[in-house]
Amino acid sequence: MSNRSPKSVLVTGCAGFIGSNFVSQFKKEFPKAEVVGIDDLSTGKLGAVHPAAKFYQGSILDENLLERIFKKHKPQYVFHFAALPRVSYSVEHPRETTEVNIVGTVALLEKSKKYGVKRFVYSSSSSAYGGAKKLPTKESENAPDPKSPYAVQKYAGEPFCKIFSELYGLDTVSLRYFNVFGPGQYGDAPYSTVVSAWLEKLYFPDGKMPFIEGDGKQSRDFCYVDNVVQANILAMKSNKNFRGEFFNVGNGERTTVNEVKRLIEKYAGRKLALEKMPPRLGDVKHTHADISKAKKWLGYSPKINFEEGLKRTVEWYEGRGVDR
Ligand SMILES: NC(=O)c1ccc[n+]([C@@H]2O[C@H](COP(=O)([O-])OP(=O)(O)OC[C@H]3O[C@@H](n4cnc5c(N)ncnc54)[C@H](O)[C@@H]3O)[C@@H](O)[C@H]2O)c1
Repeated sequence: MSNRSPKSVLVTGCAGFIGSNFVSQFKKEFPKAEVVGIDDLSTGKLGAVHPAAKFYQGSILDENLLERIFKKHKPQYVFHFAALPRVSYSVEHPRETTEVNIVGTVALLEKSKKYGVKRFVYSSSSSAYGGAKKLPTKESENAPDPKSPYAVQKYAGEPFCKIFSELYGLDTVSLRYFNVFGPGQYGDAPYSTVVSAWLEKLYFPDGKMPFIEGDGKQSRDFCYVDNVVQANILAMKSNKNFRGEFFNVGNGERTTVNEVKRLIEKYAGRKLALEKMPPRLGDVKHTHADISKAKKWLGYSPKINFEEGLKRTVEWYEGRGVDR
């Protein structure tokens, strides 16, 4: 495993939830590395861009901008977080989201190939599975079965990564994230989990009551954002050769929605009143990642468990302004 600091890395979606957390931790671990970021601020926030990052405001679909960035900075590693990640938005706008989520990814792969990037790390999604089949869900036992344009688009990035490895020898790896939460995730975020949706209402009430669907016994593999950041850094450091390999990145445990409520009340020190709603149609009852492949190949092991992650997220909400 090489621990040498890379000279320069490119982070797409650096103003978003996971991308901004990635940059701040990456900078701590590799203070000398140049971090170049690109984000069009469609869902990201300018204030979330790390002050030490060389920031380009623009779209990954802008061919000239990508050319300029790659030519100037010659990033050794690309961490691709940028996406339009709202499932419902993708249902309403399948073409636009396909452009960003698929064509944008291919555009970055092309530049990575042209400029000899050492490794391309792709943010994929557990939505590729299309719902819980075998639990815990193993990569090898569950064929992709995406159920929305967004899920198809995120999944499509994976075979594109593999093809770029096979055809052009570009080293690529895909990480399938499960329900990420943590500081920097706003309650109205495209992917907001019950954690951020409920905390938003608790700390910044807008007159609408937060709700719980069904009996609350449904459970999710909630993964604290630092673990996802860690998986990206481990993927970069690995001295294996990747040819489009894909890995589950989750917590490896699941937590019921009722338990989320109990722990929020414990750490926030106040009651969370929830309106009862019927179970969501077509919702999967449980998600649970089998993370043994990422453990074996990348040495991935979640450092922050759900309860600790929740405590930190509550602290972030306590100190946060009303900014949305
Ligand atoms: N949060 C989760 O639970 C989760 C789960 C699975 C996969 N993912 C994936 O992780 C990645 C990051 O997700 P997130 O939760 O941080 O979402 P986010 O919306 O907070 O971040 C995405 C960022 O990409 C930027 N962006 C969108 N279109 C762009 C474009 N055309 N050009 C440049 N920048 C653009 C947005 O402005 C935003 O800052 C995404 O690829 C998402 O699909 C997230």
